[in-house]
Amino acid sequence: MKIVGGPASQLLASRTARALGTEPVLCEFNRFPDGELYLRIADEIKNESVTLIQSTPTDSDFVSLLQLIDACNEAKELNVVIPYMGYSRQDKRFKPGEPISARAAARCINADRVFTVNIHEKSVLGYFPCPAKNLDAAKLLGEYIAGFGLESPILVAPDEGAEGLVKKVSSGLGFDYDHLQKTRLSGDTVTIKTKNIDVTGRHVVLVDDMIATGGTMTESIKMLKDQGAVDVYLACVHPVLARNAVLRLFNAGVKDIIATDTLEKSESILSVAPLIADALKDLQ
Ligand code: R5P
Repeated sequence: MKIVGGPASQLLASRTARALGTEPVLCEFNRFPDGELYLRIADEIKNESVTLIQSTPTDSDFVSLLQLIDACNEAKELNVVIPYMGYSRQDKRFKPGEPISARAAARCINADRVFTVNIHEKSVLGYFPCPAKNLDAAKLLGEYIAGFGLESPILVAPDEGAEGLVKKVSSGLGFDYDHLQKTRLSGDTVTIKTKNIDVTGRHVVLVDDMIATGGTMTESIKMLKDQGAVDVYLACVHPVLARNAVLRLFNAGVKDIIATDTLEKSESILSVAPLIADALKDLQ
């Protein structure tokens, strides 16, 4: 099986290829003088199984994925791995007249199967025109946090939506866990209310699927520190970390940020390559 990495997932594709005992196929990424994207897979793709790995945090990354899919038109079998899928949060029509952007994006993916990693809403999987499976990085996060050796940490989800994730991250590791109550006021402003969690003198790890503007985590960190937490770590699958998110989080007093390489940032210290490699081995 050939592994092809798009521009947003070069490291993850390389790690996945290595985990499968192969090397990633070389690709060229460039732009035409008018700004349009140019891409070339530097290998002939004909009558063989190919796996594309490309996250889509930006519109350009999405176009690159479409170009990669088209370049593999003559593959015998095509798997598309979208470790972080942009637009997955617009999974329904919140106001009249809005598109279901996740559906619009998913419908364009012409492949034999799709894999995502901790997609924001599993219902989005049903929008792909082919079978789609979500891989779960919760166990990887949990094992990494356990490796810190923190004394009696408590894992906290910033909202009810992340409660399922925090429960899975804690599973089998004996961590306490709970969730806060979030109300979103705008794209980058939220209010967080505490439940009756006593964090006095405790190490807290806030867990969410993604950190985007950092608004959710900033408010949560401040509140937990005010309530006497010793230190607050952040763990997420997708470090979107838009605009000045990192500064906001450190300004709020975060101890450290742990994330996976579904998006390739300096915080991406944990690789989901073994998850993807195992899913691809299962196909053989
Ligand atoms: C929302 O439901 C997600 O799970 C995250 O909580 C959210 O996307 C984080 O966004 P931000 O970092 O902009 O507050």
